[in-house]
Amino acid sequence: MKAAVIYFTGTGNTLRVGEVFKAYLENIAYNVDMIDITKHSRNLKDYDLFITGTPTQNSVSTFNMNDFIIKYISKKNNPKARFITYVTHSWGTAFGHLTLKDFISRRGFEVVGARAFIAPNNFYMFRKDEPKFEEKKFQQTLRNIYDGVWNLMKSFTDGQVQIDQRSMLKKNLWYARSIFTKYTVFSRFAKMMIKVDSDKCSKCKVCVNKCPNNNIVLSNNRIQFSNQCLACGRCLHICPKNAYLLSNKPFEQYEGIKKPIVELI
Ligand SMILES: Cc1cc2nc3c(=O)[nH]c(=O)nc-3n(C[C@H](O)[C@H](O)[C@H](O)COP(=O)(O)O)c2cc1C
Ligand code: SF4
Ligand code: SF4
Repeated sequence: MKAAVIYFTGTGNTLRVGEVFKAYLENIAYNVDMIDITKHSRNLKDYDLFITGTPTQNSVSTFNMNDFIIKYISKKNNPKARFITYVTHSWGTAFGHLTLKDFISRRGFEVVGARAFIAPNNFYMFRKDEPKFEEKKFQQTLRNIYDGVWNLMKSFTDGQVQIDQRSMLKKNLWYARSIFTKYTVFSRFAKMMIKVDSDKCSKCKVCVNKCPNNNIVLSNNRIQFSNQCLACGRCLHICPKNAYLLSNKPFEQYEGIKKPIVELI
């Protein structure tokens, strides 16, 4: 059997959760491809299972996953394929796994699982009420992710559908709101919110090369942004000099989940 874990990640959480799905599926003899949607540009063919994951923004999944599915995954090329959707998020209730499920169902595929996973927060510096993720919670969070994936996949192998129940009204409201935000705020996120302290910046171009949407250039010896930001936060946290400023202020970087979750729990 052939599966693909298809993911978008800004700072690694969604990839790390995807790796747990991969480990489970390999245990039951699936061949599993890991596909980063920002690096892949060919049609996918003859898969039995797709697992699609994104970070949560504005309580829903990121829209580049919808664009990827439209472009590269057709029913014709994958007549047997079923889907499982997931999101990683940091607080409250997330709806992205369900809005993604709705989108995929409308394209004629069967969705057999959908789940949101609380992960360490990469957005704490924007929210005064959300302090940086505490180390002591870290281990338990990883354990919950691992158990959550195992539980969902056990249902899948037992032939059961496991889809979180959430408020339909809130889901639809957040979805509508996030379509608006995508064009008005998130695409301009870097330009509006981020600057680089040129005294700290070594012009190494790590941020330029790692931005998933080519939204950063080094021009006239200064880091500059375009209006194609995905609001993923990668540049902020990846800069080796911590030279980024948010709303003109420095901040402590998110270090991410440094190893595969199966090695950390
Ligand atoms: C611009 C932005 C918006 C976010 N919005 C939400 C949100 O609405 N709800 C939430 O729980 N987490 C939110 N987060 C936190 C991320 O979803 C969370 O840290 C996620 O695990 C990051 O995944 P990644 O490491 O794969 O990029 C947001 C993060 C960013 C950068
Ligand atoms: S990663 Fe940091 S130090 Fe390197 S070019 Fe970007 S802002 Fe400057
Ligand atoms: S510029 Fe935008 S898309 Fe690029 S890494 Fe930074 S937050 Fe992500």
